[in-house]
Amino acid sequence: MTSPGLHPLLATRWSPTVFDAAHELSVDEVELLVEAARWAPSAGNSQPWSFVVGRRGDETHRRLVAHLAGSSSTWAPTAGVLVANLCHRFVEDTEWDYSEFALYDLGQAVAHMTVQARALGLHVRQFRAFDRAGLTAEFALPGHWEVTSMSAIGRVPADWTGTGLASPRERRPVDDLLWDGTEREPRPAS
Ligand SMILES: Cc1cc2nc3c(=O)[nH]c(=O)nc-3n(C[C@H](O)[C@H](O)[C@H](O)COP(=O)(O)O)c2cc1C
Repeated sequence: MTSPGLHPLLATRWSPTVFDAAHELSVDEVELLVEAARWAPSAGNSQPWSFVVGRRGDETHRRLVAHLAGSSSTWAPTAGVLVANLCHRFVEDTEWDYSEFALYDLGQAVAHMTVQARALGLHVRQFRAFDRAGLTAEFALPGHWEVTSMSAIGRVPADWTGTGLASPRERRPVDDLLWDGTEREPRPAS
């Protein structure tokens, strides 16, 4: 259970593996999702992110679906939109980090997108279950960029009964998240 004061956009967020296969996102909605990511903070305003966005039925979506793993291919294609979340990992033609915080910043941008999705009545499931090398080749991604994660974004079916959650939604208690540096490890052994 979330605490009563938690903002509804956060309290009602969860990651479905069930999407309404008839629901489509409008072009304006997709633009708003990207706009939300655009305004995320990043170290030095480096903005180390880009997105490949496919709306169900278009060619980009078909190319994204082709590289899903067996597990995600059972549920992700029914979401209205699939996004490949790209991170600017390295300085071009080097092994130097583009930014110490590139992955951190991409995560924030995707989190912003996730909250904006909630504001639009949508849900997001982020996932790693895809062929990274396959997507890199498919979209001719330069070597200094990485397909870090994907997001399936859509509407949960109106008649969805609550069955089919991939795993129970449990969290460590707040007390466990607060570390005073003296008594125990930051994360207690499970
Ligand atoms: C970076 C990242 C990778 C994830 N990879 C997968 C995945 O490969 N397959 C999957 O079904 N869910 C994946 N998830 C979803 C998580 O399992 C889910 O967010 C977590 O269980 C918490 O559930 P909640 O989002 O409903 O609170 C991923 C989430 C994140 C943020």
